[in-house]
Amino acid sequence: MGLRAVLCVLVIPLMIAVVSGCAKKEEPKPEASPTTAAVAAKGEGKALFEQKCSVCHGLDRATARTETKEEWTSIIQEMQEKKADWISDEEAARILDYLASSHGK
Ligand code: HEC
Repeated sequence: MGLRAVLCVLVIPLMIAVVSGCAKKEEPKPEASPTTAAVAAKGEGKALFEQKCSVCHGLDRATARTETKEEWTSIIQEMQEKKADWISDEEAARILDYLASSHGK
């Protein structure tokens, strides 16, 4: 009995912590903040690129080439137009930063 009571005391708060921990993780997403954006811009640009640019073709479609920033700007714009509301202007700007710096001429 004593052991079971102790287990309950330990396990229940743990489960609450796990559940509320998961719930918390989902919340900050929509307001993925402009303040941290600047700090993490490059890593985030890469993550966005991998997430947004891989749905219709492989990432190598982009990574196999190097282009000037102007060229990337127009390519990304074209890709934005292929699927409405999939890549926002803000995301496009971060993807552009990443591609221009990692796959730029
Ligand atoms: C909605 C689907 C879709 C998404 C999302 C998409 N692409 Fe594309 N992409 C295509 C299609 C279809 C083609 C081939 C036809 C064409 O060139 O218009 C293409 C072609 C390309 C090409 C070759 C273009 C050329 O002129 O040779 C590059 C580079 C490229 N995509 C990069 C990207 C990047 C970077 C992203 C993310 C910002 C992206 N794509 C997101 C559909 C998509």
